[in-house]
Amino acid sequence: MHNNKFSNNNEKNRILNRRRRAKRITRENLAVNNAITRPEIDWSKLGFGLTETESMYIAECTIDGQWKIGSIHPYGNISVSPSAAVLNYGQGIFEGMKAFRTPEDEIVTFRPDENAKRFAEGAGRMSMPPVPKDIFEDAVKKVISANRDYVPPVGVGSLYIRPLLIGTGAILGLGPAPSYTFLIYVSPVASYFKGGQLSPIDLIVEEDYHRAAPGGTGSTKCVGNYSPVLKVQLQAKKEGFSDVIYLDAKENKYIEEVSSCNFFVVKGKTIATPALEGTILPGITRKSIIELARDKGFTVEERKVGLDEVLSADECFCTGTAVVVVPVGSVTHRGKKTVFCDGKIGATGQMLYDELTGIQQGRLQDTKGWIEHVPKDYHL
Ligand code: COI
Repeated sequence: MHNNKFSNNNEKNRILNRRRRAKRITRENLAVNNAITRPEIDWSKLGFGLTETESMYIAECTIDGQWKIGSIHPYGNISVSPSAAVLNYGQGIFEGMKAFRTPEDEIVTFRPDENAKRFAEGAGRMSMPPVPKDIFEDAVKKVISANRDYVPPVGVGSLYIRPLLIGTGAILGLGPAPSYTFLIYVSPVASYFKGGQLSPIDLIVEEDYHRAAPGGTGSTKCVGNYSPVLKVQLQAKKEGFSDVIYLDAKENKYIEEVSSCNFFVVKGKTIATPALEGTILPGITRKSIIELARDKGFTVEERKVGLDEVLSADECFCTGTAVVVVPVGSVTHRGKKTVFCDGKIGATGQMLYDELTGIQQGRLQDTKGWIEHVPKDYHL
């Protein structure tokens, strides 16, 4: 990830944002802010670092209460109790979504209903009040609309949308927080991995650490699933790898997922991907790619995928909201490196990437109803 490269963009935006924050956002101010020209971002330098934007969405709810529609606030720090459940006990979940600028200069988002569903399921797993689908989808449109100037030019990247649901109420003994915050912030992004979107990644198989275990929270996008992978990921990066493949915790034999994405193996016209058995993330890009591949005549099998199958595959790729479809250049296991497609992108990964991004960016017809238009001034 290119995290520190964007301090220039961030610095400019911080100054712009500070000026905007000086005014309380009112309908009138929003209209004025709306008229600003696109912020000075060097789109060609965009990676997956945070670029602060104009505003964010916030709603609050108590454990016994009902969620009410929240509102747009200037982007900035939030204040929470040191005893907030999310800080002490990790009671929090998040989502990853994207909005795109189409060739017609419209702003669209991809399968927000699926994120709403997963977010509600995750809330249930973490004993938090689920955000109703209509409030979630309304919030997503509001925050995109309020930050539409930050959606990169067509084909350059996307606006990454990060919904959070966190236990912000204070609690000392272990138990669910008395109150919750539903917050969405956004950031323009481009390629997740170094080297550009379709640059093949080099993965190493991890055998000592596991990402999730049966009965745990592997299939929930909870905050606590992500920091435990850092130790292994950082070591892998030090050794020159892009990321890590995790194996199942029971037999240490089957592929689970990469730290931030799902995994696919191609052999002829068959594509296999680990089944959703509670330990891996039910990716929305994963689900979409399975459907697109079947439409293109591939047999797609959701089942256990052994490491042996990976090492004899024609091609492998990973999918995720952040990573999109990324080719796997090599997999290293116990010091032995297996290279796929001469280290270049494979034909199947390329085709599926083109199909998916074509639909997402409004370049291909959306016959599946996956695209949601975000009206201008939706936030007013
Ligand atoms: C996403 O793909 O949207 C994620 O949330 C993964 C995250 C580690 C960047």
